Amino acid sequence: MRHLIDIMDLSVKEIDELIDRAEDIIANPESYREKCRYKKLATLFFEPSTRTRLSFEAAMLELGGSVLGFSEAQSSSASKGESVSDTIQTVSCYADIIAMRHPKEGAPLAASLKSGVPIINAGDGGHNHPTQTLTDLLTIKRELGRLEGFTVGFCGDLKFGRTVHSLISALSRYENIKIVLISPEELRVPGYVRDEILKKNKIEYTEVGSMTDVMDTLDILYMTRVQRERFFNEDDYLRLRDSYILTPDKLENAKSGLKILHPLPRVNEISTAVDDDPRACYFKQVKNGKYIRMALILKLLSEVR
Ligand code: NCD
Repeated sequence: MRHLIDIMDLSVKEIDELIDRAEDIIANPESYREKCRYKKLATLFFEPSTRTRLSFEAAMLELGGSVLGFSEAQSSSASKGESVSDTIQTVSCYADIIAMRHPKEGAPLAASLKSGVPIINAGDGGHNHPTQTLTDLLTIKRELGRLEGFTVGFCGDLKFGRTVHSLISALSRYENIKIVLISPEELRVPGYVRDEILKKNKIEYTEVGSMTDVMDTLDILYMTRVQRERFFNEDDYLRLRDSYILTPDKLENAKSGLKILHPLPRVNEISTAVDDDPRACYFKQVKNGKYIRMALILKLLSEVR
């Protein structure tokens, strides 16, 4: 049985196949309407979510399956002290596949060791978020037309932003990718990302403090929210939250073909005045999230023996 805990659990070939499948679903949605008839997806969200949970649920419903689950730890027996492992052994009795989000890094991996059905990591603390990465890769492929030979700037909370960590891992396997890390000193990428991913794979990268200084070099600008829930104290959050605010004037020197991505939710970091700029792709990204999750559900269910 296959789980998806880390984006590196999938080979580049498998990711390419998922992207092709998602594009086929976009082109021929009718032919997928019955593919998961009588199958059930459980969404176990121990942390808040709008897009990830609802796109998983919409994905399963569009495949003809059904969904069950909970959207906060408080409404599950976790609030009575039940372990993740016991919860998973229980839900495995009811569902064919599980998407799980948890504030503790590694919780979905621990769950997968006890699960009778495939587990998908829908975000674990400040660690990883592989299905957002699949969404991001599908969006880059559709918007830029390729998954190689571009410069991507990651901007904002690169320390706690799990979508950043997973996307950097994924990009380390594609050709000729340059990475610009734009953050305040305190929110730079964790050491393991710098040493085990960027340096080890000899990825060309720079770390800078100013977004506008590097804007004209970027093909993709990946904005992120400062992750308030992972801060140890509110004062640090208040000091750092508005470090970068993308407004139309900051795009003056940007390439005309720039693609602006954001996993969302946004707070202040992209002004709504940018939304009408043709370079803004974050709502297209939301839509892509449903299709790539349809492709992933089909793949993991087809590999259950
Ligand atoms: C992200 C997450 O949960 O990590 N959102 C998402 O799943 N699209 C980003 C965030 O919360 O800032």
